[in-house]
Amino acid sequence: MTQAADVRGAWAGRAVHRLGEVDSTQNEARRLADEGVPEGTVVWAEHQTRGRGRLGRSWVDEPAASLLISIILRPALDASRLPQISLLAGVAVADALAGESELPVTLSWPNDLLIRGRKVAGILAESCLTKGAPGVVILGIGINVNQTHFSGELGGRATSLAMEAGHPFDRARVLRLLLERLEAWYRWWVADGFQPVREAWRHRAETLGRRIDGDGGVAGVAVDLADDGALVVKTDSGALVRLHAGDFYAPRR
Ligand code: BTN
Repeated sequence: MTQAADVRGAWAGRAVHRLGEVDSTQNEARRLADEGVPEGTVVWAEHQTRGRGRLGRSWVDEPAASLLISIILRPALDASRLPQISLLAGVAVADALAGESELPVTLSWPNDLLIRGRKVAGILAESCLTKGAPGVVILGIGINVNQTHFSGELGGRATSLAMEAGHPFDRARVLRLLLERLEAWYRWWVADGFQPVREAWRHRAETLGRRIDGDGGVAGVAVDLADDGALVVKTDSGALVRLHAGDFYAPRR
């Protein structure tokens, strides 16, 4: 383990396990969580061979060009509040990326971070429930920092901070700022609930006011973010329906 003094925070990142190649930082973090490491421990890898995204998708990186991290959380909360964590993380990542780059970073429900319509970062929150309460949440964050091209289908949909700004970024600086923002938002959320996160998310959201063609045949316009993190959609027939991201699952690999 490397104690990365340059990125450590009081809580988020108080221990940073900096690794070379792994299958997925989510798996490394799960293993550490099972060993009982404290909340806020971070796994940071240079490359993943089986990085994963939401809904069974893969997350492809360029070695040493991305930020690939997983953070261990142990929230003492009812499972119904878990979806709020990935929204909270989205706000923290957006704050950090906008703060470091001064680029226009927006959020697309549930947890994509975009710059000028292209995806720059994604968030994957995985949880193991014990008797209906979250035991541990592994918060995975992938940020395209210094990639200069994306091949295949990613080509038209993904971007990086470097591609948008025209110069490379120091990944440790981005991570330090991200951990600061995450720590601040997490403490705020535990103390005051979802409302401040919800306001901040709405402020940065691309999704609200846009047309949605969701899973399960829901088609309409996204009108709000509900208290439980669901997206409220006004369907073409005028009904209000809630879409849930449903990204809390705990694959054992
Ligand atoms: C998504 O947009 O679908 C979420 C992508 C999450 C990718 C990150 S990279 C670090 C962590 N390890 C993984 O295998 N996935 C997450």
